[in-house]
Amino acid sequence: AIQRTFSIVKPDAVRKNLIGAIYSRIEACGLSVVGAKMLHLTREQAEGFYAEHEGKVFFEPLMEFMTSGPIMVQVLEGENAITFYRELMGTTNPENAAAGTLRCDYAESMRFNAVHGSDSEESAAREIAYFFTENEVCAR
Ligand code: CMP
Repeated sequence: AIQRTFSIVKPDAVRKNLIGAIYSRIEACGLSVVGAKMLHLTREQAEGFYAEHEGKVFFEPLMEFMTSGPIMVQVLEGENAITFYRELMGTTNPENAAAGTLRCDYAESMRFNAVHGSDSEESAAREIAYFFTENEVCAR
């Protein structure tokens, strides 16, 4: 089925001028960008977005990293977009990421891992609604 998923180009990748490279890879594999914007997350926005990780050892460094510079947030649409985009990203830890994945090519570590993607339909719906109003996502 055609799905929508939520994606972030994280501060490390934006700093390295990789926005276009990552968009190219997304589009080359058949996913379409149907909503996009650049943001510099506030602490409050980052805490709300990652609320499920509050209390974990990596939470504080994650907040520091995700508020360290601008990010691109986008809504991606395509056949099985959620799973498909997670496959394109590769594993959270780039050391285990398969060749040809975004994290294999662009991530430095578990923390500085270049991209985010929703892990389920529920997260996708929540994450898209967290950053986009209905008229900011364009049907195509
Ligand atoms: P993301 O897909 O954005 O969702 C949660 C983020 O927390 C994850 O990517 C990583 O950047 C980070 N993360 C998850 N696990 C760890 C970990 N063990 N150590 C450091 N960062 C982590």
